[in-house]
Amino acid sequence: MTTVPFLDVPAMARWVAHRGPEAVIGRLVDALAADFARWPDLDKRARIASHSRDGVIELMPAADDVTYGFKFVNGHPRNPARGYQTVTAFGVLADVHNGYPTFLAEMTLLTALRTAATSALAARYLARAGSRTLALVGAGSQSEFQALGMRAALGITHLRVWDTDPGAQAKLARHARALGFEVHEATSGEDAVTGADVITTCTADKANATVLTHDMVTRLARPGVHVNAIGGDCPGKTELDPAILRAADVYVEYEPQTRVEGEIQQTPDLVVTELWEVVAGRRDGRRGAPATAGPGEAFARHAGDRRTPDDTTVTVFDSVGFAVEDWTALRFVRDDVPAGFLRHLDLVADPEDPKDLFSLVVAAQEDDRADAREALDRLMGLAGRGHVDALAHR
Ligand SMILES: NC(=O)c1ccc[n+]([C@@H]2O[C@H](COP(=O)([O-])OP(=O)(O)OC[C@H]3O[C@@H](n4cnc5c(N)ncnc54)[C@H](O)[C@@H]3O)[C@@H](O)[C@H]2O)c1
Repeated sequence: MTTVPFLDVPAMARWVAHRGPEAVIGRLVDALAADFARWPDLDKRARIASHSRDGVIELMPAADDVTYGFKFVNGHPRNPARGYQTVTAFGVLADVHNGYPTFLAEMTLLTALRTAATSALAARYLARAGSRTLALVGAGSQSEFQALGMRAALGITHLRVWDTDPGAQAKLARHARALGFEVHEATSGEDAVTGADVITTCTADKANATVLTHDMVTRLARPGVHVNAIGGDCPGKTELDPAILRAADVYVEYEPQTRVEGEIQQTPDLVVTELWEVVAGRRDGRRGAPATAGPGEAFARHAGDRRTPDDTTVTVFDSVGFAVEDWTALRFVRDDVPAGFLRHLDLVADPEDPKDLFSLVVAAQEDDRADAREALDRLMGLAGRGHVDALAHR
């Protein structure tokens, strides 16, 4: 029998608690950096998105020549008002050589971890050295993970939080203080971004919203602020004033997908840089590749026609979430999680003779008959087998 290890929601939460969420995100950053550095070797495509009036359901595949993976994920901004999560997900890994699934996991928690780790990876290269204050606009499910990611990457100590829902804002402030952050509960988006070194927007609204204006970024935040925009991730769902994009250096995950889904759907001609190019050392970020970048250092550096951001340049990471990040996160969990956290599912129909799939039905029919006989035995309460058999064959 071929069984598939399965990490369910309680086990994923227990693994994160066991390792520590910030430590998990920090190690995921390194795992992402290693995979981004071999980007040209990976099988990549824009996700398949099924849009409806209320939201979107997406399939996100990625692979190398050993391991295939995909994530099923939804995005429904009006869900919390009905008691559901905005984003839920699960994912699968499979062996490329035979196509058999090898690992199955919940990915709602894992998506929050990998999104925070991707934001942290971008910030590692793009945020100004010495960044300590993070403005978080949007205090929902992703927000605590985002704060921890920025602390792991940059040493963020101060949070300025703003959400239009006071309950969500209070929830984030409570968790963040318990995690050791100094927290300012802002009275507006403007208040939140004042003096910020980094701004993360993680709001959910199925609209071309303006969560940040050009003025907020260039006048209220610190010069050379890094904007980590994760909530604009669908056609017609954006957070930034397009004037910010035109004034900034903009980095994306996978340009063909981000052109359709990201902030840059508002600025079709804008030249952008894919983050992997910076990680691999082919393009300049604001900061040089840190020592942990490893394999990326093997690539030749060529700055091309793009400038190197300095301490006054506004940088934007226009994040929509890309399949490679989920594939990396799934492989990371698979390799790290202790065996005792897993259940095993009999998910693959795998008969002894690979051409005799029907043998599974035949065996089940035999089991079914035996069960029926046993049930009948119990029902009749009869001791004599012969009498029960006679009844069974009527
Ligand atoms: N880029 C990625 O990889 C990635 C990954 C996961 C989620 N997301 C996106 O990130 C966003 C946040 O996800 P979530 O799971 O935290 O959602 P959530 O619904 O739990 O939280 C969103 C919060 O934004 C607040 N909000 C809405 N409009 C606002 C505004 N104008 N100003 C301030 N606050 C506002 C809401 O009150 C809510 O508390 C969603 O849009 C989601 O699609 C992106």
